[in-house]
Amino acid sequence: MTKLLTLTFTAIFMTVPASTGVTAEEAATSTRLHTLKNSNGMEVTVTNYGAIITSMLTADRDGNLADVALGHRTAAEYIAASEKPYFGAVVGRFGNRIAEGTFTLDGETYTLATNNGDNHLHGGNVGFDKVIWDVKSASDQSIHLTYVAKDMEEGYPGNLSVSVTYTLTDENQLVVDYAATTDKATPVNLTQHTYFNLAGEGNGTVLDHEVMLNADRFTPVDSGLIPTGELRSVKDTPFDFTSPKSIGRDIETENEQLALGKGYDHNWVLNKGVSATELTLAAVVYDPATGRVLTVSTTEPGVQFYTGNFLTGTLTGKSGKTYSHRGGFCLETQHFPDSPNQPDFPSTILAPGEKYESQTVFAFSAR
Ligand code: GLA
Repeated sequence: MTKLLTLTFTAIFMTVPASTGVTAEEAATSTRLHTLKNSNGMEVTVTNYGAIITSMLTADRDGNLADVALGHRTAAEYIAASEKPYFGAVVGRFGNRIAEGTFTLDGETYTLATNNGDNHLHGGNVGFDKVIWDVKSASDQSIHLTYVAKDMEEGYPGNLSVSVTYTLTDENQLVVDYAATTDKATPVNLTQHTYFNLAGEGNGTVLDHEVMLNADRFTPVDSGLIPTGELRSVKDTPFDFTSPKSIGRDIETENEQLALGKGYDHNWVLNKGVSATELTLAAVVYDPATGRVLTVSTTEPGVQFYTGNFLTGTLTGKSGKTYSHRGGFCLETQHFPDSPNQPDFPSTILAPGEKYESQTVFAFSAR
């Protein structure tokens, strides 16, 4: 059930830059794979490197299993990948972008890495996707991972204790529970960065997948993909996924926001109803070719719908197929990007004594 993922690790380590956050010794001894399996044969494999989901075997309409999560074959490839796509990882301390890598909190200005043009992305140079997590417990259908980010790690204030629990239910749901506490006020925005291709990883683009997003508004961005602060209606725009439509239908439309994102790479404002923190429907994705359906629910207020615009066809995936441009999509449930600098967005600040709790459910079915 628990296997070492070290085979090619040590050899490739020589080319790994120091900023990956993993030493040769850790790489050789501490990286594990753990497979969750339910009574229907669905399987989800997780590594403690970055709390990454490395594969998800789910059934199509005829009951055939395929791996619907993009990923690399070895830990070394996760570390060395030139495109840094964040395949399958837990992203933090702050998922998505913070403008110019700076924010002010309680009168103090903090400076973060600018690892995405002028901006900070996905927690910095060594975000939570590039560290080794502790496996606190693991069973056939659940794994509980923890990580303690130090005060000023990647520039963020506060020692932050984070946990992520993946639970695979017999209803074919992968439940992701996040929790965190801190000893100083700090921004926290954790998300899961799996790229899905419901036809199976490496099987072409996702442009034919049909998507419904439960969101009447999205947050338009500037040229650095930082929200302008506006919550804009999706009505009569290519961003309207309130009724299911294929990803490809409008993606090449002439539109300023699509041009800035090089496709869809935006945060949608989820329709939350009365309670802002209850688990509500975020998205439904259907692949007409295989019948697979992914339904995403979350306690978060937003979802970054990203259509693999930065995949260039140069990465080779687990089964030896290359990942084409738009060969996967992400549904990164989250608070809105750049929240620490946007007073009108829901707050991402966690104070000492408070508990950060967030849940996202990825449910699989077929029709
Ligand atoms: C997120 C971002 C994208 C891109 C990917 C990783 O989805 O919004 O712009 O950085 O992560 O490639």
